[in-house]
Amino acid sequence: MTNAFRFQTVQAMLVEFGAARRLGALLRAQFPALTRLCVVTDAFLHKSGLLNPALADLAAHGWNATVIDDVIADPPEHIVLEATSRAQTAGVQIVLGLGGGSSMDVAKLIAVLAPQEQQTLADMYGVNKIVVSRLPLVQMPTTAGTGSEVTAVSIVTVGEAKKMGVVAPQLIADLAILDAELTLGLPRAATAATGIDAMVHAIEAYTSAHLKNPISDMLAVKALELLSRNLLPACESGQNREAREAMLLGATFAGQAFANSPVAAVHALAYPIGGIYHVPHGLSNALVLPHVLRFNAETAAHLYAELADVIMPGATGSAASKTQALIERLEQMIAATAIPARLRDVGIERSGLERMASDAMLQTRLLVNNPRPLTEDDALAIYSAAF
Ligand SMILES: NC(=O)c1ccc[n+]([C@@H]2O[C@H](COP(=O)([O-])OP(=O)(O)OC[C@H]3O[C@@H](n4cnc5c(N)ncnc54)[C@H](O)[C@@H]3O)[C@@H](O)[C@H]2O)c1
Ligand SMILES: [Fe+2]
Repeated sequence: MTNAFRFQTVQAMLVEFGAARRLGALLRAQFPALTRLCVVTDAFLHKSGLLNPALADLAAHGWNATVIDDVIADPPEHIVLEATSRAQTAGVQIVLGLGGGSSMDVAKLIAVLAPQEQQTLADMYGVNKIVVSRLPLVQMPTTAGTGSEVTAVSIVTVGEAKKMGVVAPQLIADLAILDAELTLGLPRAATAATGIDAMVHAIEAYTSAHLKNPISDMLAVKALELLSRNLLPACESGQNREAREAMLLGATFAGQAFANSPVAAVHALAYPIGGIYHVPHGLSNALVLPHVLRFNAETAAHLYAELADVIMPGATGSAASKTQALIERLEQMIAATAIPARLRDVGIERSGLERMASDAMLQTRLLVNNPRPLTEDDALAIYSAAF
């Protein structure tokens, strides 16, 4: 018997190495009547020249492009609001997110905020709170990580340190363009962190407590296969086109999976690390991943064992021993990427763990999806183990 489920994803996806070089033509074909576009990105990417071929082709095809490049990692609310008013001033008709998850998340919110005054950002936090429609939205990731190009989620830092999500179908793009050429220059540490974020999306989608469904399962399995085989090759040789293409596809599949079967305690415990200490999102996930999996192991062993078969084909033994092997393999992979492994290695002090545990408990939207219920004491124990 299959439980009833709903699955939604991006309407169109273009997977093409080098697509950015003909972006103007691509968008002209899909949106023939529009001219004023904004490119939402961060200052580093803008200055690096990575966007130049795309910008040149946009100009060549009659696009009047406003580059909004003030996105910062873990974007705070004021960045979203300022970017929105720039887009409004420019009379933007279509929004293009071109960057990592931070840029794409801001692009989503500009697309819903810019064309109307009926609803403010403050009214949009939570699940299905958006009541307005949006401008056309196209997403082009430059990291193989968040899957934001296909999700209905945008994550904003509210106040000093709280990461809050806007989750609504309006945030799903009209078109996601996967051009792995854009990811060739992603540095090793960012490749590792964003790649592990994507693996966590697949793992948490596969074990999600409420909305787990056969389509997300299929995507999560394929994602894990691609990501686990290509993470280290992509770290070791960034210019490896095959590895980069596999990582980008894997990250997008994982995004499609968790958009419909949402992530859980790894993300809930990662958010305070990013929110308070500004540790990159993927690294925050990597730091707690093995410890959350150990916490969940008994409850979710049958599912982890299935994922062990994906990452380690031919693994034998009981579900419990496969689960153990899976956790160890993930720890080895994280170690092999050479990103920091413990909370103390990223500037966190033991005295900070209690606040982190209490902040993590605010992520109820995520915690309800965890296969095993988790209390504040459990969160503290997990952080202590990760310390
Ligand atoms: N919307 C979702 O579904 C979703 C899911 C997970 C995470 N997130 C959010 O996404 C954000 C993290 O996104 P991210 O991990 O992609 O990182 P990011 O967008 O914050 O970028 C991290 C850094 O990598 C650099 N970078 C990006 N692409 C590059 C490239 N090709 N070459 C060189 N440098 C490059 C950026 O300039 C930036 O300095 C967080 O705010 C997180 O909460 C959103
Ligand atoms: Fe994530």
